[in-house]
Amino acid sequence: MNVLVLGSGGREHAISWKIAQSSQIDKLFIAPGNAGTNQVGTNVDIEADDFQGIKKFCLENKIDYVVVGPEKPLVDGIADFFQDDPEIRHIAVIGPNKSAARLEGSKDFSKQFMKKYNIPTAKYQTFTKDNLEEGYAFLDGMKPPYVLKADGLAAGKGVVILNDLNEAKDELRAMLEDAKFGDASSSVVIEEFLDGIELSVFVITDGQSYKILPEAKDYKRIGEGDTGLNTGGMGAVSPVPFADTAFMDKVENQVIIPTIKGLKNEGIDYVGFIFFGLINVKKDPFVIEYNCRLGDPETEVVIPRLKSDILELFEGVATRTLSERDVVFDERAASTVVMVSGGYPGAYEKEKNISGLNGIFDSMIFHAGTKQDGPTYVTAGGRVLCVTSYGKKLEAALDKTYDNLKKIDFENAYYRKDIGFDLEEYD
Ligand code: AMP
Ligand code: GLY
Repeated sequence: MNVLVLGSGGREHAISWKIAQSSQIDKLFIAPGNAGTNQVGTNVDIEADDFQGIKKFCLENKIDYVVVGPEKPLVDGIADFFQDDPEIRHIAVIGPNKSAARLEGSKDFSKQFMKKYNIPTAKYQTFTKDNLEEGYAFLDGMKPPYVLKADGLAAGKGVVILNDLNEAKDELRAMLEDAKFGDASSSVVIEEFLDGIELSVFVITDGQSYKILPEAKDYKRIGEGDTGLNTGGMGAVSPVPFADTAFMDKVENQVIIPTIKGLKNEGIDYVGFIFFGLINVKKDPFVIEYNCRLGDPETEVVIPRLKSDILELFEGVATRTLSERDVVFDERAASTVVMVSGGYPGAYEKEKNISGLNGIFDSMIFHAGTKQDGPTYVTAGGRVLCVTSYGKKLEAALDKTYDNLKKIDFENAYYRKDIGFDLEEYD
Protein backbone atom coordinates (compact mmCIF):
# COMPACT_ATOMS: atom_id res chain seq x y z
CA MET A 1 0.00 0.00 0.00
CA ASN A 2 1.31 3.47 -0.87
CA VAL A 3 0.41 6.26 1.50
CA LEU A 4 0.76 10.05 1.38
CA VAL A 5 0.54 11.95 4.68
CA LEU A 6 -0.21 15.68 4.47
CA GLY A 7 1.28 18.10 7.00
CA SER A 8 4.58 18.97 8.60
CA GLY A 9 4.31 18.88 12.39
CA GLY A 10 4.94 16.51 15.28
CA ARG A 11 1.49 15.05 14.69
CA GLU A 12 2.42 14.07 11.15
CA HIS A 13 5.74 12.60 12.29
CA ALA A 14 3.94 10.45 14.88
CA ILE A 15 1.32 9.30 12.34
CA SER A 16 4.03 8.52 9.77
CA TRP A 17 6.16 6.71 12.37
CA LYS A 18 3.17 4.46 13.06
CA ILE A 19 2.29 3.90 9.39
CA ALA A 20 5.93 2.95 8.71
CA GLN A 21 5.50 0.03 11.17
CA SER A 22 2.48 -1.38 9.35
CA SER A 23 2.81 -4.78 7.70
CA GLN A 24 0.91 -3.35 4.72
CA ILE A 25 3.07 -0.35 3.88
CA ASP A 26 4.99 -0.27 0.63
CA LYS A 27 5.88 3.38 0.09
CA LEU A 28 5.27 6.23 2.52
CA PHE A 29 5.49 9.88 1.49
CA ILE A 30 4.95 13.03 3.51
CA ALA A 31 4.08 16.43 2.00
CA PRO A 32 5.78 18.66 2.93
CA GLY A 33 7.01 16.91 6.13
CA ASN A 34 9.99 17.80 8.30
CA ALA A 35 13.42 16.32 9.00
CA GLY A 36 11.83 13.67 11.23
CA THR A 37 9.24 12.43 8.74
CA ASN A 38 12.04 11.98 6.22
CA GLN A 39 13.55 9.34 8.53
CA VAL A 40 10.44 7.15 8.34
CA GLY A 41 9.34 7.93 4.78
CA THR A 42 10.17 10.28 1.92
CA ASN A 43 9.39 13.97 2.05
CA VAL A 44 7.78 15.55 -0.98
CA ASP A 45 8.00 19.26 -1.63
CA ILE A 46 4.27 19.95 -1.98
CA GLU A 47 2.22 22.07 0.42
CA ALA A 48 -0.80 20.43 2.08
CA ASP A 49 -3.18 22.92 0.41
CA ASP A 50 -1.83 22.49 -3.14
CA PHE A 51 -4.64 20.17 -4.28
CA GLN A 52 -3.55 20.02 -7.95
CA GLY A 53 0.04 19.25 -6.94
CA ILE A 54 -1.19 16.51 -4.60
CA LYS A 55 -3.36 14.99 -7.33
CA LYS A 56 -0.45 14.86 -9.78
CA PHE A 57 1.81 13.26 -7.17
CA CYS A 58 -0.83 10.68 -6.20
CA LEU A 59 -1.29 9.58 -9.80
CA GLU A 60 2.42 9.42 -10.54
CA ASN A 61 3.14 7.41 -7.39
CA LYS A 62 0.07 5.16 -7.32
CA ILE A 63 -1.02 6.39 -3.90
CA ASP A 64 -3.76 4.33 -2.22
CA TYR A 65 -4.39 6.46 0.91
CA VAL A 66 -4.07 10.16 1.63
CA VAL A 67 -3.96 10.81 5.38
CA VAL A 68 -4.69 14.44 6.20
CA GLY A 69 -3.00 15.82 9.33
CA PRO A 70 -4.09 19.49 9.63
CA GLU A 71 -7.60 20.95 9.48
CA LYS A 72 -7.14 23.49 6.71
CA PRO A 73 -7.10 21.15 3.69
CA LEU A 74 -10.14 19.34 5.17
CA VAL A 75 -12.12 22.53 5.77
CA ASP A 76 -11.10 23.63 2.24
CA GLY A 77 -12.55 20.40 0.83
CA ILE A 78 -9.67 18.07 -0.06
CA ALA A 79 -11.89 15.00 0.46
CA ASP A 80 -14.50 16.46 -1.93
CA PHE A 81 -11.73 17.31 -4.41
CA PHE A 82 -10.80 13.61 -4.58
CA GLN A 83 -14.38 12.38 -4.52
CA ASP A 84 -15.49 14.67 -7.36
CA ASP A 85 -12.67 13.74 -9.74
CA PRO A 86 -13.02 10.37 -11.56
CA GLU A 87 -9.24 10.16 -11.99
CA ILE A 88 -8.56 10.09 -8.25
CA ARG A 89 -11.87 8.96 -6.76
CA HIS A 90 -10.41 5.49 -6.08
CA ILE A 91 -7.87 6.99 -3.63
CA ALA A 92 -9.14 6.96 -0.04
CA VAL A 93 -8.84 10.22 1.85
CA ILE A 94 -8.64 9.68 5.61
CA GLY A 95 -10.42 12.79 6.79
CA PRO A 96 -13.91 14.28 6.53
CA ASN A 97 -15.38 16.13 3.56
CA LYS A 98 -16.03 19.87 3.60
CA SER A 99 -19.56 19.61 4.94
CA ALA A 100 -18.46 17.33 7.79
CA ALA A 101 -15.38 19.43 8.56
CA ARG A 102 -17.73 22.30 9.47
CA LEU A 103 -17.71 20.74 12.94
CA GLU A 104 -14.35 22.52 13.22
CA GLY A 105 -14.62 25.08 10.41
CA SER A 106 -17.63 26.90 11.84
CA LYS A 107 -18.17 27.42 15.56
CA ASP A 108 -21.74 28.54 14.86
CA PHE A 109 -22.46 25.33 12.92
CA SER A 110 -20.98 23.18 15.68
CA LYS A 111 -22.94 25.01 18.41
CA GLN A 112 -26.22 24.63 16.48
CA PHE A 113 -25.44 20.96 15.96
CA MET A 114 -24.76 20.39 19.67
CA LYS A 115 -27.91 22.24 20.65
CA LYS A 116 -30.04 20.22 18.22
CA TYR A 117 -28.69 16.89 19.48
CA ASN A 118 -28.62 17.79 23.18
CA ILE A 119 -24.87 17.46 23.42
CA PRO A 120 -23.69 19.24 26.59
CA THR A 121 -21.96 22.52 25.75
CA ALA A 122 -21.85 26.12 27.00
CA LYS A 123 -24.94 28.28 26.38
CA TYR A 124 -24.35 30.69 23.50
CA GLN A 125 -25.61 33.11 20.90
CA THR A 126 -24.13 34.10 17.54
CA PHE A 127 -23.82 37.70 16.32
CA THR A 128 -22.83 39.51 13.11
CA LYS A 129 -22.15 43.20 12.55
CA ASP A 130 -25.84 43.68 11.73
CA ASN A 131 -26.82 42.90 15.31
CA LEU A 132 -23.84 44.23 17.20
CA GLU A 133 -26.07 46.13 19.62
CA GLU A 134 -27.81 42.88 20.55
CA GLY A 135 -24.38 41.40 21.12
CA TYR A 136 -23.59 44.19 23.61
CA ALA A 137 -26.90 43.56 25.36
CA PHE A 138 -26.18 39.83 25.50
CA LEU A 139 -22.81 40.56 27.13
CA ASP A 140 -24.55 42.92 29.60
CA GLY A 141 -26.69 39.99 30.72
CA MET A 142 -23.75 37.62 31.26
CA LYS A 143 -21.36 37.08 34.12
CA PRO A 144 -17.59 37.38 33.51
CA PRO A 145 -15.36 35.91 32.17
CA TYR A 146 -16.69 36.57 28.67
CA VAL A 147 -15.87 34.00 25.97
CA LEU A 148 -15.85 35.29 22.37
CA LYS A 149 -15.16 32.96 19.46
CA ALA A 150 -14.60 33.87 15.82
CA ASP A 151 -16.86 31.59 13.79
CA GLY A 152 -14.26 30.45 11.25
CA LEU A 153 -10.70 29.10 11.32
CA ALA A 154 -8.31 31.67 12.79
CA ALA A 155 -5.08 29.68 13.17
CA GLY A 156 -5.92 28.82 16.78
CA LYS A 157 -6.21 32.47 17.79
CA GLY A 158 -9.94 33.05 17.35
CA VAL A 159 -10.99 32.47 20.97
CA VAL A 160 -10.71 35.45 23.33
CA ILE A 161 -11.58 35.27 27.03
CA LEU A 162 -11.90 38.57 28.91
CA ASN A 163 -12.84 39.55 32.45
CA ASP A 164 -13.84 43.14 31.79
CA LEU A 165 -17.23 43.91 30.22
CA ASN A 166 -16.04 46.97 28.29
CA GLU A 167 -13.04 45.10 26.93
CA ALA A 168 -15.35 42.30 25.86
CA LYS A 169 -17.57 44.80 24.00
CA ASP A 170 -14.53 46.37 22.33
CA GLU A 171 -13.32 42.93 21.30
CA LEU A 172 -16.72 42.02 19.86
CA ARG A 173 -16.75 45.25 17.84
CA ALA A 174 -13.17 44.68 16.63
CA MET A 175 -14.00 41.14 15.53
CA LEU A 176 -17.22 42.07 13.73
CA GLU A 177 -16.60 45.60 12.42
CA ASP A 178 -12.82 45.71 12.00
CA ALA A 179 -12.62 42.08 10.81
CA LYS A 180 -9.93 41.40 13.43
CA PHE A 181 -9.69 37.78 12.26
CA GLY A 182 -10.64 38.55 8.65
CA ASP A 183 -13.63 36.63 7.31
CA ALA A 184 -13.35 34.18 10.21
CA SER A 185 -14.83 36.79 12.57
CA SER A 186 -17.69 37.99 10.38
CA SER A 187 -19.79 35.93 12.83
CA VAL A 188 -18.92 35.65 16.50
CA VAL A 189 -20.16 33.13 19.05
CA ILE A 190 -20.45 34.48 22.59
CA GLU A 191 -20.74 31.77 25.17
CA GLU A 192 -20.93 31.03 28.85
CA PHE A 193 -17.59 30.37 30.59
CA LEU A 194 -17.21 26.81 31.86
CA ASP A 195 -15.03 26.28 34.89
CA GLY A 196 -13.32 22.91 34.97
CA ILE A 197 -10.38 20.86 33.72
CA GLU A 198 -9.92 20.11 30.02
CA LEU A 199 -9.09 16.93 28.15
CA SER A 200 -9.07 15.70 24.56
CA VAL A 201 -10.91 12.60 23.39
CA PHE A 202 -10.47 11.16 19.90
CA VAL A 203 -12.50 8.75 17.85
CA ILE A 204 -11.95 7.28 14.43
CA THR A 205 -15.13 6.67 12.45
CA ASP A 206 -16.24 5.27 9.09
CA GLY A 207 -19.53 7.14 9.37
CA GLN A 208 -21.32 4.10 10.80
CA SER A 209 -19.31 2.86 13.74
CA TYR A 210 -16.50 4.36 15.76
CA LYS A 211 -13.55 3.40 17.93
CA ILE A 212 -12.49 5.50 20.88
CA LEU A 213 -8.74 6.13 21.06
CA PRO A 214 -6.86 6.82 24.30
CA GLU A 215 -7.74 10.20 25.81
CA ALA A 216 -5.07 12.84 26.42
CA LYS A 217 -4.52 16.20 28.08
CA ASP A 218 -2.54 18.93 26.40
CA TYR A 219 -0.90 22.06 27.83
CA LYS A 220 -1.45 25.08 25.63
CA ARG A 221 0.12 27.98 27.52
CA ILE A 222 3.76 28.91 27.10
CA GLY A 223 4.45 29.41 30.81
CA GLU A 224 4.60 27.02 33.75
CA GLY A 225 1.44 26.74 35.81
CA ASP A 226 -0.58 27.35 32.61
CA THR A 227 0.33 31.02 32.36
CA GLY A 228 1.20 33.37 29.49
CA LEU A 229 0.30 33.21 25.83
CA ASN A 230 -1.44 30.36 24.07
CA THR A 231 0.74 28.20 21.85
CA GLY A 232 0.15 25.29 19.50
CA GLY A 233 0.73 23.05 22.54
CA MET A 234 3.68 22.53 24.91
CA GLY A 235 3.17 18.96 26.04
CA ALA A 236 0.63 16.19 26.56
CA VAL A 237 -0.03 13.12 28.64
CA SER A 238 -2.16 10.00 28.21
CA PRO A 239 -4.08 8.53 29.96
CA VAL A 240 -5.78 11.30 31.92
CA PRO A 241 -6.26 10.19 35.55
CA PHE A 242 -9.64 11.88 36.07
CA ALA A 243 -11.06 10.30 32.90
CA ASP A 244 -12.14 7.20 34.81
CA THR A 245 -14.68 4.67 33.56
CA ALA A 246 -17.64 6.59 34.96
CA PHE A 247 -16.54 9.80 33.27
CA MET A 248 -15.69 8.12 29.96
CA ASP A 249 -19.08 6.38 29.96
CA LYS A 250 -20.69 9.81 30.16
CA VAL A 251 -18.45 11.02 27.34
CA GLU A 252 -19.49 8.10 25.17
CA ASN A 253 -23.20 8.27 25.92
CA GLN A 254 -23.72 12.01 26.14
CA VAL A 255 -21.20 13.21 23.58
CA ILE A 256 -19.80 10.59 21.19
CA ILE A 257 -22.92 8.57 20.39
CA PRO A 258 -25.16 11.64 19.89
CA THR A 259 -22.49 13.19 17.66
CA ILE A 260 -22.19 10.14 15.39
CA LYS A 261 -25.98 9.75 15.27
CA GLY A 262 -26.50 13.48 14.71
CA LEU A 263 -24.09 13.51 11.78
CA LYS A 264 -25.91 10.57 10.22
CA ASN A 265 -29.24 12.22 10.83
CA GLU A 266 -28.05 15.40 9.10
CA GLY A 267 -26.96 13.31 6.10
CA ILE A 268 -23.35 14.25 6.79
CA ASP A 269 -20.96 11.48 5.80
CA TYR A 270 -18.14 11.83 8.33
CA VAL A 271 -15.06 9.64 7.88
CA GLY A 272 -11.79 10.11 9.72
CA PHE A 273 -10.92 11.39 13.15
CA ILE A 274 -13.15 13.46 15.43
CA PHE A 275 -11.41 15.33 18.22
CA PHE A 276 -13.66 16.26 21.12
CA GLY A 277 -12.21 19.16 23.11
CA LEU A 278 -13.93 18.55 26.44
CA ILE A 279 -14.08 20.16 29.83
CA ASN A 280 -14.86 18.25 32.99
CA VAL A 281 -17.17 20.38 35.08
CA LYS A 282 -17.80 18.63 38.40
CA LYS A 283 -17.49 15.21 36.74
CA ASP A 284 -19.75 16.06 33.80
CA PRO A 285 -18.30 16.41 30.30
CA PHE A 286 -19.07 19.51 28.19
CA VAL A 287 -17.87 20.06 24.63
CA ILE A 288 -15.66 23.13 24.23
CA GLU A 289 -15.03 22.44 20.56
CA TYR A 290 -14.86 19.82 17.88
CA ASN A 291 -11.86 19.39 15.60
CA CYS A 292 -11.93 17.37 12.40
CA ARG A 293 -8.43 15.90 12.87
CA LEU A 294 -6.09 14.63 15.54
CA GLY A 295 -4.60 17.09 18.04
CA ASP A 296 -1.01 18.22 18.25
CA PRO A 297 0.79 17.38 20.59
CA GLU A 298 -1.85 14.86 21.78
CA THR A 299 -1.12 12.64 18.76
CA GLU A 300 2.43 12.24 20.02
CA VAL A 301 1.10 10.35 23.07
CA VAL A 302 -2.10 8.84 21.62
CA ILE A 303 -0.57 7.16 18.56
CA PRO A 304 2.33 5.57 20.52
CA ARG A 305 -0.34 4.01 22.78
CA LEU A 306 -2.06 2.37 19.79
CA LYS A 307 -0.84 -1.19 19.38
CA SER A 308 -3.01 -2.12 16.38
CA ASP A 309 -1.86 -1.68 12.81
CA ILE A 310 -2.97 1.83 11.86
CA LEU A 311 -3.34 0.99 8.16
CA GLU A 312 -5.83 -1.71 9.08
CA LEU A 313 -7.86 0.94 10.84
CA PHE A 314 -7.60 3.23 7.82
CA GLU A 315 -8.69 0.34 5.62
CA GLY A 316 -11.67 -0.11 7.96
CA VAL A 317 -12.54 3.55 7.48
CA ALA A 318 -12.12 3.49 3.71
CA THR A 319 -14.14 0.29 3.21
CA ARG A 320 -16.65 1.12 5.95
CA THR A 321 -15.75 -2.00 7.90
CA LEU A 322 -14.32 -0.35 10.97
CA SER A 323 -16.66 -2.29 13.26
CA GLU A 324 -14.90 -5.51 12.21
CA ARG A 325 -11.46 -4.25 13.22
CA ASP A 326 -9.79 -4.68 16.57
CA VAL A 327 -8.19 -1.77 18.32
CA VAL A 328 -5.68 -2.66 20.99
CA PHE A 329 -3.97 -0.15 23.24
CA ASP A 330 -0.74 -0.12 25.20
CA GLU A 331 -1.44 -0.17 28.93
CA ARG A 332 1.53 2.04 29.63
CA ALA A 333 1.24 5.78 30.12
CA ALA A 334 2.87 8.17 27.67
CA SER A 335 4.17 11.71 28.04
CA THR A 336 5.44 14.22 25.54
CA VAL A 337 7.13 17.57 26.10
CA VAL A 338 7.68 20.08 23.31
CA MET A 339 10.99 21.92 22.92
CA VAL A 340 10.43 25.33 21.34
CA SER A 341 12.53 28.19 19.98
CA GLY A 342 13.18 31.00 22.47
CA GLY A 343 10.65 33.80 21.90
CA TYR A 344 7.87 31.48 20.65
CA PRO A 345 4.87 32.07 20.35
CA GLY A 346 6.19 35.54 19.45
CA ALA A 347 9.15 36.16 17.14
CA TYR A 348 11.97 33.62 17.23
CA GLU A 349 15.13 32.77 15.29
CA LYS A 350 15.55 29.73 13.05
CA GLU A 351 18.47 27.72 11.67
CA LYS A 352 19.93 26.80 15.09
CA ASN A 353 21.92 23.57 15.16
CA ILE A 354 20.24 20.86 17.24
CA SER A 355 22.59 18.65 19.25
CA GLY A 356 22.10 15.47 21.26
CA LEU A 357 19.55 13.70 19.08
CA ASN A 358 21.72 10.63 18.56
CA GLY A 359 22.20 9.91 22.25
CA ILE A 360 18.58 9.00 23.02
CA PHE A 361 17.52 5.38 23.04
CA ASP A 362 14.60 4.98 25.43
CA SER A 363 12.34 7.83 24.21
CA MET A 364 10.92 8.73 20.82
CA ILE A 365 11.72 12.06 19.22
CA PHE A 366 8.99 13.49 17.04
CA HIS A 367 10.11 16.42 14.96
CA ALA A 368 7.95 19.49 14.33
CA GLY A 369 9.89 22.53 13.08
CA THR A 370 13.14 20.96 11.90
CA LYS A 371 15.04 20.56 8.67
CA GLN A 372 18.19 18.81 7.67
CA ASP A 373 21.25 20.76 6.66
CA GLY A 374 23.76 18.19 5.44
CA PRO A 375 24.44 15.88 8.39
CA THR A 376 22.97 18.31 10.96
CA TYR A 377 19.44 18.99 12.03
CA VAL A 378 18.51 22.66 12.40
CA THR A 379 15.47 24.45 13.80
CA ALA A 380 12.88 25.65 11.29
CA GLY A 381 9.88 26.64 13.40
CA GLY A 382 8.54 27.69 16.79
CA ARG A 383 7.73 24.23 18.05
CA VAL A 384 10.90 22.33 17.15
CA LEU A 385 10.54 18.76 18.43
CA CYS A 386 8.99 16.73 21.17
CA VAL A 387 10.24 13.88 23.29
CA THR A 388 7.76 11.09 24.01
CA SER A 389 8.29 8.36 26.59
CA TYR A 390 6.38 5.44 28.03
CA GLY A 391 6.17 4.63 31.70
CA LYS A 392 4.22 2.31 33.94
CA LYS A 393 2.62 5.44 35.40
CA LEU A 394 2.54 9.01 34.12
CA GLU A 395 5.18 10.06 36.58
CA ALA A 396 7.69 7.55 35.23
CA ALA A 397 6.85 8.54 31.64
CA LEU A 398 7.43 12.20 32.50
CA ASP A 399 10.70 11.48 34.34
CA LYS A 400 12.08 9.70 31.31
CA THR A 401 11.05 12.50 28.95
CA TYR A 402 12.67 15.12 31.17
CA ASP A 403 15.89 13.07 31.53
CA ASN A 404 16.21 12.86 27.77
CA LEU A 405 15.29 16.50 27.14
CA LYS A 406 18.37 17.46 29.11
CA LYS A 407 20.52 15.75 26.47
CA ILE A 408 19.08 17.76 23.56
CA ASP A 409 20.00 21.39 22.97
CA PHE A 410 19.94 24.30 20.57
CA GLU A 411 20.51 28.00 21.16
CA ASN A 412 17.62 29.55 23.15
CA ALA A 413 15.76 26.26 23.52
CA TYR A 414 12.85 26.34 25.97
CA TYR A 415 10.43 23.78 27.34
CA ARG A 416 7.97 23.66 30.22
CA LYS A 417 9.23 21.71 33.23
CA ASP A 418 5.77 21.12 34.70
CA ILE A 419 3.78 19.09 32.15
CA GLY A 420 1.23 17.02 34.09
CA PHE A 421 1.50 19.28 37.15
CA ASP A 422 -2.25 19.58 37.61
CA LEU A 423 -2.97 15.86 37.57
CA GLU A 424 -1.29 14.77 40.79
CA GLU A 425 -4.41 15.33 42.85
CA TYR A 426 -6.29 12.84 40.65
CA ASP A 427 -3.66 10.09 40.76
P1 AMP B 1 -10.87 26.57 21.31
O1 AMP B 1 -10.04 27.25 20.25
O2 AMP B 1 -12.32 26.52 21.04
O3 AMP B 1 -10.25 25.27 21.73
O4 AMP B 1 -10.69 27.46 22.64
C1 AMP B 1 -9.41 27.75 23.12
C2 AMP B 1 -9.41 27.58 24.60
O5 AMP B 1 -10.29 28.53 25.21
C3 AMP B 1 -9.92 26.24 25.09
O6 AMP B 1 -8.92 25.27 25.05
C4 AMP B 1 -10.35 26.58 26.49
O7 AMP B 1 -9.23 26.60 27.35
C5 AMP B 1 -10.86 27.98 26.37
N1 AMP B 1 -12.33 28.00 26.24
C6 AMP B 1 -13.05 27.98 25.10
N2 AMP B 1 -14.36 28.02 25.36
C7 AMP B 1 -14.49 28.08 26.71
C8 AMP B 1 -15.60 28.13 27.59
N3 AMP B 1 -16.86 28.17 27.16
N4 AMP B 1 -15.34 28.15 28.92
C9 AMP B 1 -14.08 28.13 29.37
N5 AMP B 1 -13.00 28.09 28.59
C10 AMP B 1 -13.18 28.05 27.27
N1 GLY C 1 -3.73 20.46 20.93
C1 GLY C 1 -4.84 21.14 20.43
C2 GLY C 1 -5.00 21.14 18.99
O1 GLY C 1 -4.40 20.38 18.26
O2 GLY C 1 -5.81 21.92 18.49
